[in-house]
Amino acid sequence: MTHSLHTHQQLQELVQQDKLISFLDQLARFGGRPQGGVSREALSEEDIKARAFLTRQAKEKNWQISSDAIGNLFFRIGSSNLPALLCGSHIDTQPIGGKLDGAYGVVAAMMAGEILEQSGITDSQAIEIVIWNNEEGCRFSPGTMGSSALADPRRIKAYLNSRDKNGMTLSEAIQNLRVHESQIPVREVSPVYKAYLELHIEQGPILEHEKKSLGIVTGIQAVRWFKITIKGIASHAGTTPMSLRRDAVEFAHTCYAALRQAAQPLIENGLLFTSGSWQVSPNSINTIADQVIFTLDLRCRDDRLLDTMEDELTVILKKISSENQFSITIESLFKRKVTQFPESVTDCLKEACAITQELTNCSGYYPMVSGAFHDAMYLSDLCPTAMLFVPSINGISHNAIENTHPEDLTLGLKALVSSLYLMSNRFH
Ligand code: GLV
Ligand code: MN
Ligand code: MN
Repeated sequence: MTHSLHTHQQLQELVQQDKLISFLDQLARFGGRPQGGVSREALSEEDIKARAFLTRQAKEKNWQISSDAIGNLFFRIGSSNLPALLCGSHIDTQPIGGKLDGAYGVVAAMMAGEILEQSGITDSQAIEIVIWNNEEGCRFSPGTMGSSALADPRRIKAYLNSRDKNGMTLSEAIQNLRVHESQIPVREVSPVYKAYLELHIEQGPILEHEKKSLGIVTGIQAVRWFKITIKGIASHAGTTPMSLRRDAVEFAHTCYAALRQAAQPLIENGLLFTSGSWQVSPNSINTIADQVIFTLDLRCRDDRLLDTMEDELTVILKKISSENQFSITIESLFKRKVTQFPESVTDCLKEACAITQELTNCSGYYPMVSGAFHDAMYLSDLCPTAMLFVPSINGISHNAIENTHPEDLTLGLKALVSSLYLMSNRFH
């Protein structure tokens, strides 16, 4: 065995599956639902308690704890002031999410950091663990808020005005966070990072289908989010003749059907089209709706298809609203182009996965594009970045039953440890 393989073996032997599973289970208690799954939306009481739980662990290990203007949380390991390797994910969830989306990447980063510290590697190469605030974007839009704010702090001003469904602004939610995290210093300027690595569950069926335990993410597809608001006039359901109604639900249905139809040829070329949130006001059985807000989530591996869909969307909605004389507003909530990770990092991950395969006899790795967006897409604007995936059982995520076999979770952590070790010697 070569000297280098021996070092990887020593590092990977420090990965304990039972410790990993128990850490994940402990974190899943914050917002854990009796029926299964986790409800821990960004900056909710459960999220703040989960952050406190992780912070207590970082404190016990004497890691340097800090936050920033948007509420990201950082644990720095090692006293070197040279650029750190950044590693982490998010712990906020969908309204009803699973226990692994994001949380796995945070728990694994903390465990990898501990192993690299124990092995003396952080003496010369600082590692920083990051817990990105509001990756999901379901409470405060847009998603990947924390990482995009770190990549470009000019975004923060607009983000602070983002409101949740109850009208609370992000700014108010962060003020509340500071009350609970009064001991944590808020840094003004972000340090420079040497590279960023994020381990995540795949959230889709590809690895399972390919019978591979590790995915090397070469890039992330593009995403655009829109909020469409349609106004009607509220009136009595029993007394208002059908011909005299200004029914916002009726208008919204017409709009949705036209959009879905226009999308069809693009869907045949790879566009993904989702309208996942509908809010009807006043949402009463016997009142005609005076307002409908619905969202669109459009994704594609080709930015040009999204350009076409966005152009058509504007034309179609304007045409229907003028023909039917109702008011419509189209708001762009989120727009991110296709992300391509550099080979300098993905080559490192390939090496680490090949080493993991040699040491564990696992089924090996598979290169793939991420269908979900991740904080890593904005980090790639700042420093060399890539991601590792582990399979999701039946490809299911954003669902309480989201799961991954414990053996695969362990392999992912082993590959993460080896990747960080390799990366600590590169990207000078
Ligand atoms: C992330 O949660 C996504 O929607 O891709
Ligand atoms: Mn995630
Ligand atoms: Mn998610």
